[in-house]
Amino acid sequence: MAKITPADTHAADAVAGMTQLTDFEEIGEVLRSRKFAQGSSQLVRDTLMKDVLFLIDGEEHLARKRILARLLDDGAVASYRDRHLLPVIERCLAEEAATHRSADGIVHTDLAPLAQRCMHRVAGALSGIDGVDSEAAVQRFIGQLRTIVAGKTVDWSLDDKSAVIARANAAYEDFRTEFFEPSFSRRKQRVAEARARGEDPAAIATKAPDLLTLMALHREDTWKSDDLLIMREINTFLTASTQSAMTAFILYVMRLERWLERHPGDRALIDGDPEFLRRAAFESLRVSVSPPARIRVATEEMTLASGRHLRAGETVALFLAEGNRESARFGDDGGEFNPHRSVAQGTVPWGLSFGVGAHACPGRPLVTGSRNPAGAIGVDGTMVSMLRRFHAAGIALDPDRPPVRDAATHYEIYTSVPVLFTRL
Ligand code: HEM
Repeated sequence: MAKITPADTHAADAVAGMTQLTDFEEIGEVLRSRKFAQGSSQLVRDTLMKDVLFLIDGEEHLARKRILARLLDDGAVASYRDRHLLPVIERCLAEEAATHRSADGIVHTDLAPLAQRCMHRVAGALSGIDGVDSEAAVQRFIGQLRTIVAGKTVDWSLDDKSAVIARANAAYEDFRTEFFEPSFSRRKQRVAEARARGEDPAAIATKAPDLLTLMALHREDTWKSDDLLIMREINTFLTASTQSAMTAFILYVMRLERWLERHPGDRALIDGDPEFLRRAAFESLRVSVSPPARIRVATEEMTLASGRHLRAGETVALFLAEGNRESARFGDDGGEFNPHRSVAQGTVPWGLSFGVGAHACPGRPLVTGSRNPAGAIGVDGTMVSMLRRFHAAGIALDPDRPPVRDAATHYEIYTSVPVLFTRL
């Protein structure tokens, strides 16, 4: 029986009856094996999540993954950082300064909605969803995606599940008409015009790379079916790129602030050692992973290298965060956040947090800064770019207003994290 952490006590219900794996090697073997199918999203796999990348396997999955790899190669990641991420961070901070400055000159605000606005604007640009600029539009976009993601992750919900799904369906309609259809029509038209002029339409994706443009280019092969599949796919990409990244970023800020309170000497490392914030980000990613477990179904009878026997059709719940605490790789205090941690040779500092094998996260280079799996890569990913700028603006947790955790889910998500900016 897997050890379920106190914060995840309710997750025990969601995985009851499944074989629960917590061992790093066993989890890695299952994720790399072709003898398992995706078992996540049981309640919505034929509706909200039908045929999306997350849930398919085989050749079609690989073909879509190759296209995503082009979208997120190192050159593209560096270009997103300069063209989208850094300007978005400045814009979001300027909005905070304009609206939340109090009489003492300090900006009192909430990290959760701030991180949300940053992540959603960047995800909009990367996905090719237009019109996520103004404050009002970004709020509607966030509202739609949050409601849809609650539906997609309903397996873990503590609310009335059919009500959650009904709300997600309604939000999908709003997303379709307000954001998806206008953005996709524009891109299909650009591709059609380039073809009509006798040009190579792939050049459009080179000049202005975004996922929806790539999907318009591959509308007749990799994403055949209908436009609704493309909508579900882009939406899943949007939720994958915003929700995990936002949750991870908030936990990173909270953990690092608490670490610095206990180790004030390390504050000098933020400016003094460019790798410090990067190591801290990877360490925070290792410590917490959402959702509580990844689910796979064995497609045939087998025995894992550990000797564990699995029946055909057996469902396994993979507790990645538990695997990430394995003492041989991460030391005896693997459950703790320690930005100075050294990990065993051949182990990536974020452990299993981005998955491994065919379904491993294609967004990792964006989050960590590069495709390089070594960890010491000399560039900032999304999390570090944001926190570095927030530190320059004097971020601190608000001592008078504690963070508030979302009570409606098994995930460790905070709906409110009051913070101060003293140099904004
Ligand atoms: C801290 C941030 C993130 C974390 C911890 C994370 C984690 C993960 C994990 C563990 C998986 C594997 C799921 C499985 O095997 O069942 C995954 C898949 C995926 N992630 Fe991420 N992710 C993050 C950010 C992103 C970003 C920024 C993007 C897009 C730019 C993204 C796009 C995806 C997609 C499309 C998949 C599905 C891949 C497939 O099924 O083949 N993720 N992610």
